[in-house]
Amino acid sequence: MVNYKKILVTGGLGQIGSELSLELQKRYGIENVIITDIKNEIPEVFGNNSIYIKLDVMDYAKLEEIIKKYEIDAIFHLAAILSGRGEENPFWCWDVNMNGNMNIFKAAIEYKIKRVFIPSSMAAWGIGIPKENVPQDSVLRPTSMYGVTKVAGEKLCEYMFHKYNLDCRGLRYPGIISSEALPGGGTTDYAVEIFYEAIKNKKYTSYIDKGTKLPMMYMPDCIKATIMLMEADINQLTCHGDYNLAAFSFAPEEIAAEIKKFIPDFEIDYKPDFRQKIAESWPSSIDDSVARKDWGWSPDYDIATMTKDMIEKLSKRIK
Ligand SMILES: NC(=O)c1ccc[n+]([C@@H]2O[C@H](COP(=O)([O-])OP(=O)(O)OC[C@H]3O[C@@H](n4cnc5c(N)ncnc54)[C@H](O)[C@@H]3O)[C@@H](O)[C@H]2O)c1
Repeated sequence: MVNYKKILVTGGLGQIGSELSLELQKRYGIENVIITDIKNEIPEVFGNNSIYIKLDVMDYAKLEEIIKKYEIDAIFHLAAILSGRGEENPFWCWDVNMNGNMNIFKAAIEYKIKRVFIPSSMAAWGIGIPKENVPQDSVLRPTSMYGVTKVAGEKLCEYMFHKYNLDCRGLRYPGIISSEALPGGGTTDYAVEIFYEAIKNKKYTSYIDKGTKLPMMYMPDCIKATIMLMEADINQLTCHGDYNLAAFSFAPEEIAAEIKKFIPDFEIDYKPDFRQKIAESWPSSIDDSVARKDWGWSPDYDIATMTKDMIEKLSKRIK
């Protein structure tokens, strides 16, 4: 295990940030994880001893103040505007994602942060990719503003490493499915919403069309991969902010069929919206053999074990 003294998480109350922060608290000690987000309050699930500070990642002075006060030596930068919300307001998406990234890079260099994690996404791809098993090195021509910011983030991680020796790492996350915090406006949010609606109403109208297969991953694997990469020896790594990452892929009718095994009268219909076009520009599956080879990545969950776990967890909470 790497010995981080104090860890800063930005966007720490989001879908991934909240579960990652809880895991980092378990691993490194509750007093050593400084959770930040633009939201006013931290939910009860974190308990009284969690350290929470409201931080807009565009506020460099406040970011600096936190890094100095807590002597931060690792940053997990998760604050971002995702693909769906980003397409509704592309200029805002650029502002938050790019100014946020640049503030993190600048502060990390200035305060000699040991390691920085900035996730990328399958949204970095777009025109000209093979649909199946898109390889590590494939053309990056995103069609969404979110994807444009993700490509820039990947390239900047590599630039900052060569120019400033900043150890900046990242994964191209597929769509992440989770049972705790709700997703925050991405194109793959349907794959979480479908579980809530199946349990509550036995019915779901999908904004992604039948037949549109996308790469997905269950949250425990997302957290596992993030921590594995951030603990890997730098000499093992051949990529920086752009490791391909995969678990399984499905189209809406395939996840519906899995859910029907537990809720037989569940029904799905389709009403594609603007997110369909974004989804169609993404791959159906991802080749993550470089991550497997470099730092031993392999997922624990497939579509069947993920579905079982999601239904068990959510059925206890919602009726
Ligand atoms: N969830 C996925 O399926 C997925 C897939 C690929 C990549 N990612 C990437 O993972 C990271 C985390 O994603 P997520 O799914 O948890 O997103 P999310 O929308 O659930 O969480 C993002 C968090 O950032 C916060 N935030 C927004 N603007 C901010 C600002 N100006 N300052 C500080 N905080 C701000 C939000 O309040 C939110 O809690 C992002 O970089 C995202 O692009 C996520």
